[in-house]
Amino acid sequence: MELTEKIKNIPTPAYYYNIELLEDTLHSLCRESGKYGYHIHYAIKANANPTLLKLISQYALGADCVSGNEIRQALETGFPADSIVYAGVGKSDAEIELALKKDIFCFNCESLPEIQVINEIAGRMNKKAKIALRINPNVNAHTHHYITTGIEENKFGIYLYDLEHIISEVSHLPHIQLIGLHFHIGSQITDMTVFRGLCIRANEIQAKLKEHGLILPHINFGGGLGIDYQDPHRHPIADFETYFATFARFFEPAPHQQIHFELGRSVIAQCGNLITRVLYVKEGKNRKFVILDAGMNDLLRPALYQAFHKIENISSGKLEEKYDVVGPICESADCFGKDVVLNATQRGDIIVIHSCGAYGETMASRYNLRDLPGNAYSK
Ligand code: LLP
Repeated sequence: MELTEKIKNIPTPAYYYNIELLEDTLHSLCRESGKYGYHIHYAIKANANPTLLKLISQYALGADCVSGNEIRQALETGFPADSIVYAGVGKSDAEIELALKKDIFCFNCESLPEIQVINEIAGRMNKKAKIALRINPNVNAHTHHYITTGIEENKFGIYLYDLEHIISEVSHLPHIQLIGLHFHIGSQITDMTVFRGLCIRANEIQAKLKEHGLILPHINFGGGLGIDYQDPHRHPIADFETYFATFARFFEPAPHQQIHFELGRSVIAQCGNLITRVLYVKEGKNRKFVILDAGMNDLLRPALYQAFHKIENISSGKLEEKYDVVGPICESADCFGKDVVLNATQRGDIIVIHSCGAYGETMASRYNLRDLPGNAYSK
């Protein structure tokens, strides 16, 4: 087994990135978005590993950042400042100053108080800040409630009933230039009717603004395209073709309007696997536990969102058995899967947890004072 050969000497736990798959994914992304002239900003929060960022920035993608440190990391790894969009409900003064100093492309703003602070800081620095209004379009993404962001009960964005008032307030702020609208309704969305709903809502909002004579040059639809966690071997690359075609079909841009996306998961999830070794196989009364050397501090998604990741034993055995696959942390939530069918498993076997490239390494912590996971690359 080729993968086994490549990874058998890697100290575990570690994130292992398949660079060939990442490149194939980036080619597909650029080909499909290029058909419509769409601008893609890679969402750094999904994976901020500098080796990967240096590769991604070579594909002429912009960056989508949510902190000052992400802006720094994007700049250090080759993303041009004028391709950076900066989002987040709680931008600090120091982060706003940094973004202004670096002349980023655009702030995605989430409230009037935030815009007033940006105006004040920009004034002090003798700058004009370009902003887009992040609108909460009240479109339900029907994804896990922790990663749904575009309905009115979420903290995100400007509510539709507030929009005209905020636009009028912003027009009086001398150091703010309103250049666009921004939307992001959630993540891991595979049902394209959700994006169609977003397009239709965006059309309605545009029509309303046009009545007031306002046409903005940029529309940003955020991220959210999902991937196949169940069967990563069958669908290693996200369905960019259908995704962009949905926007091309249902969104009605104004003349010369530029359309932007901020994709994270769909770019980076499938190329990353968490490689871990079996410490012990423990017989319970009615179940068997496989205890790994990776825990929820290395990969939080299953504990936090009950997220499914395909798990494989690539070392041994043919006979299949059912196991609960758990980590070493002192928490019952430290479980990667219950009743997982694996090849008969023993101490020392290598277990691969698939589709961990997005929100894996970036969400790792040192809980229990464990070391952070390592990383390795296919070339
Ligand atoms: N733009 C904004 C404003 C966002 O909040 C996000 C993700 C993205 C773009 C990128 O979305 P993507 O294309 O990756 O779906 N930790 C969770 C996911 C949280 C997503 C947060 N926002 C998880 O592990 O599933």
